[in-house]
Amino acid sequence: MGKKNIAVLVSGGGTNLQSLIDAQENDRFGESRITCVIASNPDAYALTRAAKHKIPSMVMARKAYADVHAYSAALRDALLAAHADLVVLAGFMTIIDAQVFDAFPYRIINIHPSLIPSFCGKGFYGLHVHEAALKKGVKVSGATVHFVVPECDAGPIILQKAVEVRDDDTPEILQKRIMAEAEQELMPEAVRLFCEDRITVKDGKTVIKNEE
Ligand code: GAR
Repeated sequence: MGKKNIAVLVSGGGTNLQSLIDAQENDRFGESRITCVIASNPDAYALTRAAKHKIPSMVMARKAYADVHAYSAALRDALLAAHADLVVLAGFMTIIDAQVFDAFPYRIINIHPSLIPSFCGKGFYGLHVHEAALKKGVKVSGATVHFVVPECDAGPIILQKAVEVRDDDTPEILQKRIMAEAEQELMPEAVRLFCEDRITVKDGKTVIKNEE
C-alpha cells in the first residue's frame, strides 16, 4: 500500500469532505493524505472545513473560464500539478469533460445520492435526486460510490448502501438521512479501499479484494 495523494473536488457544504478528513485523522488511509481541495464555488463551506484542518485548497470557478472545455483543461492541469493519485468528487456539481477523465483513468471516484442506476444521469444532482425518488414513491433509496467515466454516473460501481424512505420525508429530510446513514460511511470506505490497492475493474465491474 503506497502513499497516495488524494485531491478532493467540492462545491458545497462538504459533509463528504469532512468524512474523509475524519477518516484520515483516524488513520484509515495509511500514509495517504488529502493533499488538495479544489472548490468550484468560492463560497463553499467545504473550503472552511479544509482550512480548519490545514489542508491546502484553491478555488476554480467555472465562470472564470470560457467553456466546459477550457475549465476541464485547467482542472486537469491543476490535478496533474498536484500529483494527484486519486481524485474524489465529493459533491462536485460542475460539469467536466473527458479531458479530466482521460488523464485519470479509473482514478476518479464520485459519490451519488441514490442507488444507481435509479435517479442518476444528466440533471440528477443534489436535491433533484431526492425529489425524483419521492415523486416515484420508492421505499428505499441510498448512495453509490463509483468510478467516473465520460458518460454521467455510468462508471463501475464500487460501493452502495440502501436507506429507507419514510412516508413523511421531504427531499431535504431524505437527503440528510442518506448523507448520515450511507454517504458518510461509503465515501471514506471507498477511499480506503482505493488507497489499499484493493479495487480492480474487470468487464466494466469492480472487484474488491478481501483484506489480507
Ligand atoms: C451529497 O449528497 C452528494 O451525494 C451529492 O451532493 C451532496 C453534496 O453534499 N452529489 C451529487 O448530487 C453529485 N451528482 P456535501 O457538499 O455536503 O458533501
